[in-house]
Amino acid sequence: MIRIAPSILSADFAHLGADIEAVEAAGADWLHLDVMDGHFVPNLTIGPDIVKAVRGATKLTLDTHLMIENPEKFIPAFAEAGTNYISVHAEICKNLPAVIQQIRDLDCRPGVVINPDTPLSAAAAALAHVDLLLVMSVHPGFGAQPFIGSVLAKVTEARRLRQGQGLDFLIEIDGGIKVDNTEQVVEAGAEVLVSGSGIFRTDDYSDTIRRMRAAASAGERTLALRGVAA
Ligand code: DX5
Ligand code: ZN
Repeated sequence: MIRIAPSILSADFAHLGADIEAVEAAGADWLHLDVMDGHFVPNLTIGPDIVKAVRGATKLTLDTHLMIENPEKFIPAFAEAGTNYISVHAEICKNLPAVIQQIRDLDCRPGVVINPDTPLSAAAAALAHVDLLLVMSVHPGFGAQPFIGSVLAKVTEARRLRQGQGLDFLIEIDGGIKVDNTEQVVEAGAEVLVSGSGIFRTDDYSDTIRRMRAAASAGERTLALRGVAA
């Protein structure tokens, strides 16, 4: 089952509630929330107060992507704000197992994120303990950057590893996802598709999500024909 997760980074922040309502009505499954601190990435975005406000505005699963240094300091506030998933970057965590456990202890679902230049091996030890692996397909920091297709090899590697080891995490991709490359990323093994500008910068969210889902189904059929298990 493919989940489509619009990233509110490309929403209209002056009318955030209306934009969230519109993507929910258009058939989104999750909402992706990008938290940036100006240190780990060269941009600043939202904090726990906005996540809390979003929680009050939607029933969708909230997927919080922390691009911040010292995530352990802020994780309790994001859990308190009501997010479902909290993902942290493998590159930044000094003690990744402890951070994953912290997220679980706060009754949230933990995820681990790897940048385009980070090998899957950097997250491998964590995969038995997370509910989500997020493979970045742009360098984090900004919306609307071009998709880096070479990361799909890691998506396929993760899918094989999950099958081989009988693990249970979802595989998410984030950055430059649009209707045009949806079939390709699903065929590679991605199951949660984050899309910011690919949805919010289109005129008709329903039509965009419908076309994304059709492309995803085509990708899933190819995967099934190849005999790749879920
Ligand atoms: C980038 C963020 C992404 C971003 C994706 O650092 O992690 O979630 O919002 O935006 P698009 O889909 O426009 O590349
Ligand atoms: Zn993100």
